[in-house]
Amino acid sequence: MTEMSTVDGKTVRVALLGCGTVGTEVARLLTEHADELAARAGAPVELAGIAVRRPDKHPELPQHLLTNDAAALVESDVDVVVELIGGIDPVREWLLTALRKGKSVVTANKALLAEYSAELFEAADSSGADLYFEAAVAGAIPLLRPLRESLAGDRITKVMGIVNGTTNFILSAMDSTGAGYAETLDEASRLGYAEADPTADVDGYDAASKAAILASLAFHTRVTASDVHREGISNVSASDIAAAKALGRTVKLLSICERVEGEDGTESVSARVHPVMIPRSHPLANVGGAFNAVFVEADAAGSLMFYGQGAGGAPTASAVLGDLVAVARNRVVGGRGPRESAHAQLPVRPMGQTPTRYHVSLDVADKPGVLAQVAQVFAAHEVSIAAVRQRDRHDTASLVIVTHLAPDAALEATVEAIGKMDVVNEVVSVMRVEGEDS
Ligand code: NDP
Ligand code: HSE
Repeated sequence: MTEMSTVDGKTVRVALLGCGTVGTEVARLLTEHADELAARAGAPVELAGIAVRRPDKHPELPQHLLTNDAAALVESDVDVVVELIGGIDPVREWLLTALRKGKSVVTANKALLAEYSAELFEAADSSGADLYFEAAVAGAIPLLRPLRESLAGDRITKVMGIVNGTTNFILSAMDSTGAGYAETLDEASRLGYAEADPTADVDGYDAASKAAILASLAFHTRVTASDVHREGISNVSASDIAAAKALGRTVKLLSICERVEGEDGTESVSARVHPVMIPRSHPLANVGGAFNAVFVEADAAGSLMFYGQGAGGAPTASAVLGDLVAVARNRVVGGRGPRESAHAQLPVRPMGQTPTRYHVSLDVADKPGVLAQVAQVFAAHEVSIAAVRQRDRHDTASLVIVTHLAPDAALEATVEAIGKMDVVNEVVSVMRVEGEDS
């Protein structure tokens, strides 16, 4: 008996919107593995149409399937819409139309989901359609399904990791070869990792959208991109990287989503994206190139780590096809995948009140009492110092201070006050720290 003998359902007709870096790979795999996918879905999965912006630029695709009218393709006789165009408008309307008409949607569009997932889920609920989006966060890595399903019975406390391949590619190159920022970004774009507008990557918008999606799923709370504190890597300098290296650390752009308990015991959610200094011994320090890695901490499960290719055509297509098989199978058997889970609706904690730790590197006058004066400024802001390292130069000294956890606003105010001190020649580098004992 062959696998094919399990194919008994009606053909599932698929509209593919967008056939660029990811869509091309989805179309290829859908065609090359048609028999296996049919066996797994329980029905043939057929590509019914492909919408692109410029059909004449795609001689490689089956011409009879091509259109530049995505809206008409969505309205046509298709069961599933796979959206790989990106951005919010006009895609949002097309997907809402599809879902309201009972057509399941598979998308990799984190920008859209981070703003409009509530509206999309509502449209899906109105018709009983599925909304799947595994590829929207961390490329090939199965991460959203574990959060939505496998860990649905646990209580997640933290999700932290590298979720943007482009910036990780750039930071890894700056750290290992000293390569320049611009040339590395060009290379990331050439390899298909970067967004259509790469400032979405380098300024942290892409990672912030992903953090919003992760926090929403992990904490059963609606978190949008505007709730996420965002800093990109454009201000990370060669001297930051060198300062980190000299201390046995490296710099990564992390998305950090936490369940934070206040002094009165009330819970809130913190979601932030910013560069972080981590020890080279930390598992995230060894995640290089466009790879992603995410730690999940949950009460019963403990720590889990997810690792793999976070960007690129084929890896992302793998996640898209996994979703496509799932929604096709749901149609064949008459079931539905998970809906939105936002019952907790925890408040989002402002960044200033979020506990963080700072690494501060200063160039100071080398004379008696300077260290005490600097320490006094930390104390005045109720920031406790965890470690101090001083290295003398000629008539100045390099002072590196790592703090304990303190509200981010207190740390920021401390650095500002230190920058104004007469004995401080320069604040050389300021960066948040993760992965060390607090
Ligand atoms: P590309 O820019 O490579 O491809 C976009 C596609 O959309 C192109 O085929 C383009 O047509 C088509 N398109 C654009 N506007 C329209 C329109 N108005 N009507 C019809 N088609 C249109 O994007 P990617 O493949 O890189 O990304 C697609 C999505 O996947 C995005 O949401 C992205 O964030 C997400 N993603 C991307 C990853 C990656 O590594 N690249 C990883 C994870 C998610 P034409 O070819 O004619 O220009
Ligand atoms: N531009 C994104 C990245 C693609 O670099 O991670 C994957 O979502």
